[in-house]
Amino acid sequence: MEIIIKNDYDEICSEASQIIFQEWQKKNNIVLGLATGRTPLGVYAKLIDSFKKGELDFSETRAFSLDEYIGLKKDHPQSFAYFMNKNLYHQINIKKENIHGLQGLPEDIDEHCRQYETLIKSVGGIDVQILGIGSNGHIGFNEPSSSLASRTRAKTLTEETIESNRQFFKGEEGIPCYCLTMGIGTILEAKTILLLAFGENKAEAVVNSVEGPVTATVPASALQLHPDVKIILDEDAASLLTRKDYYRWVYSNKKGVERYAKKL
Ligand code: PGA
Repeated sequence: MEIIIKNDYDEICSEASQIIFQEWQKKNNIVLGLATGRTPLGVYAKLIDSFKKGELDFSETRAFSLDEYIGLKKDHPQSFAYFMNKNLYHQINIKKENIHGLQGLPEDIDEHCRQYETLIKSVGGIDVQILGIGSNGHIGFNEPSSSLASRTRAKTLTEETIESNRQFFKGEEGIPCYCLTMGIGTILEAKTILLLAFGENKAEAVVNSVEGPVTATVPASALQLHPDVKIILDEDAASLLTRKDYYRWVYSNKKGVERYAKKL
């Protein structure tokens, strides 16, 4: 795992968008796995900016959403489909047919989830998966106790997650309790994973995920098993890490080791 500690949220987003840009340069038909929530918004804003400046072109890009609430229509303002359209897809030149998401009201949930997995495989898998992290350590909607081998499926949200989502459903009845989410096993098959976190309220989940044992109780700890994961944090989210100095040291010496590796 590479732990990258930045000064602030803007720097987190620059780092993540730069990595996506570099991967896109290598493969224009890049397959992105994209998360919703507050965390990735700044990354999407930077990708839109690069697109508007003519640096990035999404015409060959495919995108897969990480999760969706069960029970919400695509055009519900709190659906993740709506979120992704508004905050990214409608502002770049990605083709409609290359946008993939889980449906909030599928006819057959199990079949829909199976098809989603098949679709991901059929395009060669996800190249770069963007993740946020819940304060309980969830990734996607894989709440604590999710199997580390889980695939795309329906899940029941924790009361904690439902509570933290309440703010987005002001005045509405029926805050979703269920969701569809890529599984931890699905996420771990992405070639590169970028997990972003900012703010003090993520510090405990971050330290448990990065320096704690691999356990279903902290779903993000499964990322320790992945060969190419970058955890990009601000100082607050990194505040409980015990090996911060080492992570900074590794990051500041990265260019050196890369040059050395190329010579070998
Ligand atoms: P957030 O959510 O980006 O809104 O903090 C992250 C998550 O719950 O996965």
